[in-house]
Amino acid sequence: RILILDFGSQYTQLIARRVRELDVYCEIHPFNHIPEITSSTKGVILSGSPCSVRDLDAPRIDLDQFRHKVPVLGVCYGAQLMAQMMGGDVMPSENREYGRARLEIVDEDSSLLAGISETSQVWMSHADTIKRIPDNFRVIASTPSVEVAAFKIADELTYGIQFHPEVTHSTEGKKLLHNFVVGICGCKQDWTTESFVESTIQALQTKIGDDKVVMALSGGVDSTVAATLVHRAIGEQLYCIFVDNGLLRKNEFEEVLHSYQDMGLNIKGVDAVQQFYTALKGLEDPEDKRKAIGRTFIEVFDQEAHLIQDVKWLGQGTIYPDVIESVSVKGPSATIKSHHNVGGLPDFMNLKVVEPLNTLFKDEVREVGKTLGLPGSILGRHPFPGPGLAIRILGDVTAERVAILQEVDSIFIEGLKKHGLYNEVWQAGTMLLPIQSVGVMGDERTYERVVALRAVTSVDGMTADWAHLPYDFLAEISNDIINKVKGVNRVVYDISSKPPATIEWE
Ligand code: XMP
Repeated sequence: RILILDFGSQYTQLIARRVRELDVYCEIHPFNHIPEITSSTKGVILSGSPCSVRDLDAPRIDLDQFRHKVPVLGVCYGAQLMAQMMGGDVMPSENREYGRARLEIVDEDSSLLAGISETSQVWMSHADTIKRIPDNFRVIASTPSVEVAAFKIADELTYGIQFHPEVTHSTEGKKLLHNFVVGICGCKQDWTTESFVESTIQALQTKIGDDKVVMALSGGVDSTVAATLVHRAIGEQLYCIFVDNGLLRKNEFEEVLHSYQDMGLNIKGVDAVQQFYTALKGLEDPEDKRKAIGRTFIEVFDQEAHLIQDVKWLGQGTIYPDVIESVSVKGPSATIKSHHNVGGLPDFMNLKVVEPLNTLFKDEVREVGKTLGLPGSILGRHPFPGPGLAIRILGDVTAERVAILQEVDSIFIEGLKKHGLYNEVWQAGTMLLPIQSVGVMGDERTYERVVALRAVTSVDGMTADWAHLPYDFLAEISNDIINKVKGVNRVVYDISSKPPATIEWE
């Protein structure tokens, strides 16, 4: 594996993505929690940082923990930190440098830059620059404005680069990372989804043995892929639970339950609709609704899990971005926030947790799902929030409102599929607004509900743009909804981006 030490850069996850794209396994660890360097550690990459190495409270590390043991590559802050700690000077740049620059290769023989073209475009993003390097450093590349764009330390496999090879604007960045990870560190490119599936199934068998595992499935990609892996490992020792909370899409409970059965999973569908509606009764505040749904889910799940005798493990579809500890580097004592997404299931259940996907990024989970032969209908699904339609009904949730929204939502989603637009958007849904407006149907005046359609394009849901759906399509959907769904006389389309808006309305 390659260890990536995180100093808080926005690009750290991208470095990991690029290394994985080379079929090499890597892990991100915060700079102040460096794991032991073992024989399986083939190299270390130091990330960038929002801090300046000149700050008194800048994050620092003991380089001897890994230097001379394995090859090291410092990126931006990582490079500046090494230069400064070994006696060089890092100063503010005369011009803060953000954007494209042309690389001039000074040392043709450098294995880090092997095969990289003269004047290769690289992406710069820094306010500091290395002004003087220690005597045993050698400059291997410059740019017109940065003399020390890349360096190597003499007689050791330690390198620093001022630019960011992980962003696509560094056109040969991937080649540079390949040179480091494969050429210099000697990593084998054998980390593929097939090898992941094989080694994970073996590891799960060893870990779980003859024990029983319980998992809650949601119909989403992560929980389904996780359950399939566990099922391949231990078969009928896996007990899956799929709860109908009355807040799913139209017919979704039955359809997803059938897909799970077809996949051979040992799945129990639990009808808890009334329990959820009772818990939601009268609640209008979105956070109150979320809490009530979370609480009810735990009650239902706990009750069901207790029906399985001697269950020892709880399986979860947690993925890597949920567990990467992000580093907060704003203060003298760098603190670590952890983002463990344990689905809100509490400790009192006394179950050991097994999370087979907790080293994977979202698109890797999809690839694993493909390797496992999961149906496209599950792998290509839009994300759907845990609290479901409850947070798309603004205000109080009732069975009648859920039924209206399910109809509207179904017309929109089926329409997207019919017109080949479903896969063009990242997520789509509809909101039932708590207002009524005047309309006219036939000769009668109506005073009915307004629904909002929402469709966005996005990569990860962190930022999103409203999808520019064709007017003809919107016209058809609006017409269908108003004609077919009783109680709705107006349709609007949400044209807000995130930020400043969010994807959901609550
Ligand atoms: P926002 O509305 O924050 O949504 O832009 C970003 C993504 O998160 C989903 N979302 C949720 N998912 N529980 C979930 O499991 C929630 O409470 C929740 N709220 C929002 C949303 O659907 C979108 O994909």
